[in-house]
Amino acid sequence: MADTERPLSLVVLISGRGSNLKAILRAIDAGRLRATVKAVISSRADADGLRWERAAAIDTLALDGRDYPRREDYDRALLGLIERFAPDLVLLAGFMRILSAGFVRHFRGRLLNIHPSLLPALRGLRTHQRAIAEGLREHGASVHYVTEELDSCPVIIQARVPVLSDDSAETLAARVLQQEHELYVRALQLIATGEIRWNDDGRVYYRDGPLPEPLKITGLPDTTCTID
Ligand code: GAR
Repeated sequence: MADTERPLSLVVLISGRGSNLKAILRAIDAGRLRATVKAVISSRADADGLRWERAAAIDTLALDGRDYPRREDYDRALLGLIERFAPDLVLLAGFMRILSAGFVRHFRGRLLNIHPSLLPALRGLRTHQRAIAEGLREHGASVHYVTEELDSCPVIIQARVPVLSDDSAETLAARVLQQEHELYVRALQLIATGEIRWNDDGRVYYRDGPLPEPLKITGLPDTTCTID
């Protein structure tokens, strides 16, 4: 259960561009999200997202996957780094490594991910190409608690976008990404206010009871977004 008296403390894990991280930091700066980013950890020392965060004077750390041939060793080191900051939540924001079961279990109920598809559809990689190849009319993004199954439910909230007839993977990805930036902030707002919470039975609770299906955002990012 979130302690709504104090800001949520976050550690954000990235691997590259870091645009979701930036959107979260912008929302915090704008007073839209009661949270503090304690640290940003990148799985690549050369991630673009790290450069920006250094400029914003946040603790930035690189734990490069190439230095750890065994996934278990990497995950153990990562777990130790994260726990130094004792965050309420660990956010995967374009963190492109599969995490071991032990890591995921350790952070059960505290680990969130954003995935560029309407889960449970299109788990895994290259979701935009696959959405087009499969002739889907609708695509989008999901924020979910991470459990031991790859890109698994339970999903908290989703954003939907149409797939247009002339879309390339790039144009579709750009449309989805614009929604992602609002979606992660929305999910965090709901947790910060205590409206969404992880329950030890492995289900997401929304206000007084289990969330029957993912919440949806509609409207334009950043301004007129509403929750259905
Ligand atoms: C985002 O589109 C995110 O959904 C995706 O990586 C991108 C990171 O962008 N994550 C995954 O595919 C995880 N399965 P960003 O670095 O600009 O936030």
